[in-house]
Amino acid sequence: MSLPNHVAIIMDGNGRWALQRGKSRNYGHQCGLKAIEKIVDYSIKKKISYLTLFTFSSENWKRPKKEVNFLFKLLENYFRKNILKVIRNGIKVKIIGNKFSLPSHLRKTIKIAENKTRKNNKISVQLALNYGSKQEIINSMKIVNKKKQKITLKNIEKNLFTSGFPDTDILIRTGGQKRLSNFLLWQIAYAEIFFIKKMWPDFNNNDFQKILNKFKKIKRNFGKV
Ligand code: IPE
Ligand code: IPE
Ligand code: MG
Repeated sequence: MSLPNHVAIIMDGNGRWALQRGKSRNYGHQCGLKAIEKIVDYSIKKKISYLTLFTFSSENWKRPKKEVNFLFKLLENYFRKNILKVIRNGIKVKIIGNKFSLPSHLRKTIKIAENKTRKNNKISVQLALNYGSKQEIINSMKIVNKKKQKITLKNIEKNLFTSGFPDTDILIRTGGQKRLSNFLLWQIAYAEIFFIKKMWPDFNNNDFQKILNKFKKIKRNFGKV
């Protein structure tokens, strides 16, 4: 069987990982960012064309303000400091989710990152930021309705934030929980799902390769026999 075209990851466990080491949850997020860099590089090496990373859910606003602000600042600083590296590595960045309620300076930074990496073609990386799958589906239906189009698979898909990305082949969730937390509910209809016990900062290329190996051996039926 072939390699996956689109891998999506629920990067869970940063907080627990850090607390287990007597560190702050925010320290865990910093280490989680390093794990992201490694996995993106490895995905390029593996010729995976599309990657979607759950970065901040629409429900994560319920966390302490200090943690929410830290997460936003972390992302903003990353793109400010590393944009040249991101361009050089051929990474096309796309943000999915409700951008409007994000801090304006973060919005500006991600817009610049999206624009500057627009022509990159080694890998497309969607960062799900203030993302909720149910909200995404409602939003799409509202657009279809407004355009007076028919409710069809194609029309709904065209107006999802993920439009332009193929269906998800592999969904990975680290951190030991077996739930979807409102992530890509539509897009994972036929994804192969891997729940991994390791916390996200510990997830490495070897863990990823093991999943890719397992995926290769899976017979995907899509309803056929
Ligand atoms: C990272 O893991 C996911 C984000 C929301 C950034 P968590 O912060 O949820 O870590 P745990 O699950 O509390 O350990
Ligand atoms: C999902 O993790 C969101 C991200 C990885 C960004 P959560 O830690 O927020 O999920 P729940 O609340 O445990 O379901
Ligand atoms: Mg969590």
